[in-house]
Amino acid sequence: MNHETRPLTVLDLIAMKTAGRRIVMLTCYDAAFARLLEQADVDVLLVGDSLNQVLAGRETTLSATLDQMIYHAASVRRGARRSLVFVDLPFLTYQISVPEAIRNAGRVLQESGAQGVKLEGGRPMAETVRALVDRGIPVIGHLGLTPQSVHALGGYRVQGRDDGSAARLIADAKALEEAGACAIVLELLPAPLAKAISEAIAIPTIGIGAGVGCDGQVLVLHDMLGLNEGFNPKFLKRYAELGEAVRHAVRGYASEVRAGKYPGPEHSFE
Ligand code: KIV
Repeated sequence: MNHETRPLTVLDLIAMKTAGRRIVMLTCYDAAFARLLEQADVDVLLVGDSLNQVLAGRETTLSATLDQMIYHAASVRRGARRSLVFVDLPFLTYQISVPEAIRNAGRVLQESGAQGVKLEGGRPMAETVRALVDRGIPVIGHLGLTPQSVHALGGYRVQGRDDGSAARLIADAKALEEAGACAIVLELLPAPLAKAISEAIAIPTIGIGAGVGCDGQVLVLHDMLGLNEGFNPKFLKRYAELGEAVRHAVRGYASEVRAGKYPGPEHSFE
């Protein structure tokens, strides 16, 4: 177990960076996995809009809805007592106007019990981040490959490879920090750039495909557990092969059902 058992707060995220303790984040979409992840000492459970791909089988995150996110976030919150729960604001729930962003982010906190929201974008989103933080809604930013902009970015590709875009990303990170964000996810960036961003700001960076120089790491749970077997990007490390474990278990069940071996007397009532 973790050496501390009190619930984490957003203030702990910055304290962890200051103390040089790397932050462990994973996506999570339900109460069963939330309990397991918390027992394994994960600091932050991210209810990512990746659930639209991982759970709902869609091509992109773009069609995720606020109600969908709130449903999954409330499930995760019921499974988590100590870990922080952050929730992705889906596409078009925060970009249209600041009042809409406040109302939608507020609904996420009120209806799910999560502690904060994550949203994508740099300087153009700074005003919105400031407005949310000023109203007591903690915000994690997201820079680099921002999946809600996949069409504008021309696909899921590494960002910040040239000097101009690297400089813009550093300025974006500073703008989010100044606006009050409590952390920033850095997705698909060259490792030296992610390290430079991490060193340029006091709030923690959480990397995915951004090298070891970030202040923490995040992966999509189903990818790292081997439950999404067709997805094999360079940055992904699989820590289990649960896809194979599931097939093996289900084949065993199916063959026993077909052979009349399950249920046995020990599973039956007199
Ligand atoms: O939606 C998501 O799962 C994310 C992570 C990849 C950071 O935003």
